[in-house]
Amino acid sequence: MDRYLENIEHKAAVLCDALPYIRDFVNKIIVVEYDCGEWLSGVEEKKMIKDIVLLKSIGVIPIVVHRTQMGVDKFRENKRIAKLLELYDTKAIGICGVDIETIQMMIKNDYIPVITPNDIDNEDTPILPEEAAKEIAVSTGAEKVLFLGKEDGIRDDEGHIISQMTRDEVVKMYVAGKFEGRLLQKVTYALQMIEQGVPRVHILGSKMAHALLVEIFSIIGVGTVIMPDKEHYYPHELKKRAAATK
Ligand code: ARG
Repeated sequence: MDRYLENIEHKAAVLCDALPYIRDFVNKIIVVEYDCGEWLSGVEEKKMIKDIVLLKSIGVIPIVVHRTQMGVDKFRENKRIAKLLELYDTKAIGICGVDIETIQMMIKNDYIPVITPNDIDNEDTPILPEEAAKEIAVSTGAEKVLFLGKEDGIRDDEGHIISQMTRDEVVKMYVAGKFEGRLLQKVTYALQMIEQGVPRVHILGSKMAHALLVEIFSIIGVGTVIMPDKEHYYPHELKKRAAATK
């Protein structure tokens, strides 16, 4: 087969693999903790933004919560990210503070809510975006939360990313003091979310182009997914796993 046609087949295969996940996630809320402005070039950031727009375009409901790097105006950053999303013909709106009612109203009106955890009356209180993401995910019944940033997952002692972990496995590493810095923050809130009913929390690096789409729409993903236990697979995943072990 010539190279061009082979490529088409490969692209179609990617779409076919995505189909069951598209079915799982349409009309579901996916909270994206967006910790990217600091790490990505303009071109890389636009790719990330496009991935979020793609989610929205196929009927997933993304909510973006962002970190603002030190020294940058939170409210301006909020507007900047909403504007970036709007560049790709979607409606996005910046919201200051975690206000669930406003978020729900924006979703109903077809906007992607872009949230900075601080409002004008608590402008200087340190509120972690991970904490805000937890509050939002738990109170909106989100299907999953993705932490996108510099940390590209949880690594084993050899330094390899662990693709999937149960809550108990993460707790073991946590107790053994394996996490520090921002990864520790992410893991801490991931564990809380899982305990409060969020089905899956993912930690993935934002540097790889389209990491978000690959994580959401493939079975293997790119980062680490944390699940409550080994029972929490989607039916199509169970079938694939069974076929792979035959
Ligand atoms: N796409 C699926 C999901 O979003 C599976 C992701 C698996 N990711 C991983 N790092 N193993 O839930």
